[in-house]
Amino acid sequence: MTTLVKYGHRIARTARTNSRILLSSPSGWVSSRAMTTSVSSTGRQQSIDAPLTRSATFLVLAAKPGEEALKTIRSTLSGVEGLTKNVSIRDLNSNFVCTVGIGSEIWDSLTELPRPAELHPLPVLQGAVHATVSTPGDLLFHIRSDRRDLCFEFERQLLNQLGESVEVVDATVGFRYFDARDLLGFVDGTANPVGRAALSAALNQDGPNGSVGSYVVIQKYIHNLNGWGALKTEEQETIIGRTKFDNLELDDAESGQRSHKTLSTIEDDEGNEHGIVRDNMPFGSPASGEYGTYFIGYSKNLWVIERMLERMFIGHPPGKHDRILDFSTPVTGNTFFAPSAEVLEGLGD
Ligand code: HEM
Repeated sequence: MTTLVKYGHRIARTARTNSRILLSSPSGWVSSRAMTTSVSSTGRQQSIDAPLTRSATFLVLAAKPGEEALKTIRSTLSGVEGLTKNVSIRDLNSNFVCTVGIGSEIWDSLTELPRPAELHPLPVLQGAVHATVSTPGDLLFHIRSDRRDLCFEFERQLLNQLGESVEVVDATVGFRYFDARDLLGFVDGTANPVGRAALSAALNQDGPNGSVGSYVVIQKYIHNLNGWGALKTEEQETIIGRTKFDNLELDDAESGQRSHKTLSTIEDDEGNEHGIVRDNMPFGSPASGEYGTYFIGYSKNLWVIERMLERMFIGHPPGKHDRILDFSTPVTGNTFFAPSAEVLEGLGD
């Protein structure tokens, strides 16, 4: 039987008797066979590799105690694909997608399924000057669209369904700022892998029974824009590792203070580089004086993002932390696992 599955901006035509699944990507139609995918053994990924959108809502929820709450959450998660269709049909060109992540604390009781190997809470990394924070959060909804109203509508319908089963821990609305710049004024997202490289950076088979999934880390950063603005442009460029106006990469420092770009580039002992898929968004309000960057990274291996954070917060060499942190403070930090669409759907059984 061949089914046509509408999945966010992508359409996957899957023949259940055949292990091939076709995915659209910024670089066109690609076969993911080379990646991982046999439909029967690994399932459909959520739209982790969706293109950058104009708007996003980052919704982090905590489950209320008790079996009743878990039942409601399971049934809502199993219907998330339907809810997505309800909203995305209003404008098929709006690139609407929602990715669901399940947190470490609730994974076992909510799913009653084997736990992804690396899923654990975000560690608190204490450097000489700066530290990560590890904050509560059982569920992540990364809601993306070029239309703010569709993100709003999805969030409304979703929270209606979840009702009393959850508490909102944080809801942050992000917007695309000029030519994909963060509020520090730099183009953010350039080195992101695209197409097949994005899938291999983000997807693993750590889900139940070897199903496809991705680790997700989020951190909400608040900027000190006055302090940042007091630096000369050349100093800012040295901190980031790129030029501000035309976004050109600067050479890596051989020793001493490294740039953000260098500290977040991870190589293993064999010299292989391990990338992640980021979809950072600016957020804030001039009226309330709040300016920030919402960091979100999808990764095949959780250790890759943890290694980036170690190099940023503790420093490489230790003591030489990422100077972006002198002007950016994380106020949240969570780890989630985004399972396959089938795992989510199956929670309602
Ligand atoms: C205040 C928060 C942050 C801001 C404003 C920020 C901004 C940027 C900018 C402007 C770039 C250069 C352009 C690009 O390639 O995207 C960059 C690169 C990068 N950032 Fe961040 N970032 C933040 C936090 C993080 C965190 C927490 C991580 C990972 C844990 C991270 C991982 C990366 C990676 C992997 C690159 C690409 C490096 C390369 O291969 O060139 N960033 N970031």
